[in-house]
Amino acid sequence: MHLKYEYKHFEKIPVKIWKDAAEGSEHVARSIALAIRQKQQDGEKIVLGLATGSSPIKVYEALVRMHREEGLSFKNVITFNLDEYYPLAKSVPQSYWRFMHDYLFDHIDIPKENIHIPDGAVPMEGMADYCASYEKQIDMAGGIDIQLLGIGRTGHIGFNEPGAWEHSMTRMVRLDHLTRRDAIKDFMQEDAVPYRAITMGVGSIFKARTVYLMAWGEHKATVLRDAVEGPISTSLPASFLQNHPNVRVMIDQSASEMLTRVRTPWLAGSCNWTEDLICKAVVWLSQQSNKPILKLTDEDYNEHGLSELIMEEANSYELNIRIFNRLQHTISGWPGGKPHADDSNRPERAEPAQKRVIIFSPHPDDDVISMGATFMRLVDQGHHVHVAYQTSGNIAVHDYDALRYAEFMAEYGKTQGADTSHYDEVIAFLNSKNPAEPDSEAVRKIKGLIRRGEARGGARYCGLEDDHIHFLDMPFYETGKTRKKPLGAADIQIIQDLLETIQPHQVYAAGDLADPHGTHRVCLDAIFEAFRNLKDRPWMENCWLWLYRGAWHEWAIDEIEMAVPFSPPQLRKKRQAIFMHQSQKDRPPFPGDDNREFWQRAEDRNRETARLYRALGLAEYEAMEAFVRWKI
Ligand code: F6R
Repeated sequence: MHLKYEYKHFEKIPVKIWKDAAEGSEHVARSIALAIRQKQQDGEKIVLGLATGSSPIKVYEALVRMHREEGLSFKNVITFNLDEYYPLAKSVPQSYWRFMHDYLFDHIDIPKENIHIPDGAVPMEGMADYCASYEKQIDMAGGIDIQLLGIGRTGHIGFNEPGAWEHSMTRMVRLDHLTRRDAIKDFMQEDAVPYRAITMGVGSIFKARTVYLMAWGEHKATVLRDAVEGPISTSLPASFLQNHPNVRVMIDQSASEMLTRVRTPWLAGSCNWTEDLICKAVVWLSQQSNKPILKLTDEDYNEHGLSELIMEEANSYELNIRIFNRLQHTISGWPGGKPHADDSNRPERAEPAQKRVIIFSPHPDDDVISMGATFMRLVDQGHHVHVAYQTSGNIAVHDYDALRYAEFMAEYGKTQGADTSHYDEVIAFLNSKNPAEPDSEAVRKIKGLIRRGEARGGARYCGLEDDHIHFLDMPFYETGKTRKKPLGAADIQIIQDLLETIQPHQVYAAGDLADPHGTHRVCLDAIFEAFRNLKDRPWMENCWLWLYRGAWHEWAIDEIEMAVPFSPPQLRKKRQAIFMHQSQKDRPPFPGDDNREFWQRAEDRNRETARLYRALGLAEYEAMEAFVRWKI
């Protein structure tokens, strides 16, 4: 944190920024444990309001651990969950009832009668009475002592979507379109996501004595900023919390990115001006004032709240040149280093001229989507490039694609007089399968192989020989469901073994620090862990780790340490490599909130990076891929 004081003026709710979700969640869990024990000492019960979704998962994991290892008992705990989809039976894997039992209740000693979760199977006629009695039960239990909340991209808390009334109580609601789209990852397809839910109201949440709102990952950064710094409004129900006397917002660094104190700290108070912060400020000023860096004047700095910086720097002229050069030096068409050139101002080392490189790709297409042009450049420039596909990606293949391949195998087998009963079974399974049902082992295998073939096509197109293409099939991913297993020793060992075998000078990895439960983040954690375990190996001294952004956004311009530019024909070649991933074209099973196809997203993003460089007054390129060097 660069700030010395005074950001509270902007933030209308106390916010605590933690290093990561694990650290923040541990703190919340400790506070809950303390409150439980305190009440136990007084011989009283404690009432917890609980949320589902990815935000509280690590809190539940910590509580379970405290129960197992520290004897934390939940005998005096009464719980009320915020919400449940409607209509939905408890037994369905996607139900919040199931979620709570999987993550918490099945692993602690809470009496079953103390658990309350809205029932998604209540008949419609009895709904109003049911909701009123849920609310009454909370009051009868003495009201909620500690309420856990996540925040949705619509700004919802519970399922109180935009438009929810400040005094609303437990009731049935319709889910927002965005919320339903976010739920596709659990229900496998949009049609299967319920349209409605039962939720505690904003008013019910408000009655809680203490509220923790948690948000982890940069995809929460904008909505979180709006909730904390913006006006109170029904169009953003989380903003009502500004009126609550005892809320704490717990976020990680990624979710804090849009807060004034992080994004533009110079507007929030006095700063400790490191070179990185100066770069951030100059880039921001250039963008704010629509002027290239070398045209910024002292007045521009003064008028945009940067007079303190100008006072420290004496004048803008030298400062502009210094930052311009810093950015200029990040641009390189030699991602593996330029052999025999002076590398003192280049992002990569000149020697060795031919480097051993591993590109890690979490899913089978992230390599070409996120760094396809750099990939081809590395191969063309004579480096020994390997690509390693970390997961099989089998979950993101449509059933109809798997069916097509199974039918192909069966029909071809029949022409050869072979026994095709295995394929016939697969075909029968797929023909009778409900889309939300998990795949059989055989179907998963087929889907994984479809993606394998596509990945091989993409890597070959980038110029790789087959023996440089590695399929790691990390076990944490192989659940057949969107919910994955935690990262295990076997996953890390697989990464370590490959690193040991290749002993690379350069490693590229998807640096998605957001989304603590997303596959990209888990894949990255496996690489970090492997690096830590191997840190004493002599070859590690010469091994640099470059992070590309796989999902969400690109790196911010001031963070980029290597920008690899490319021409229009190179951009077209990159598109061809992405086209090799046919199962992901048009509309993959988990498209997220973006309607563009992957190749379009990649091109828009790479063109935008080039445009931003150009707008700062640097050279004009068609497109650029961006990287940050990770120093362990
Ligand atoms: C869950 C709930 C929702 C989630 C919110 C964030 O019980 O009521 O409001 O807290 O949608 O979801 P995640 O944590 O999955 O990002």
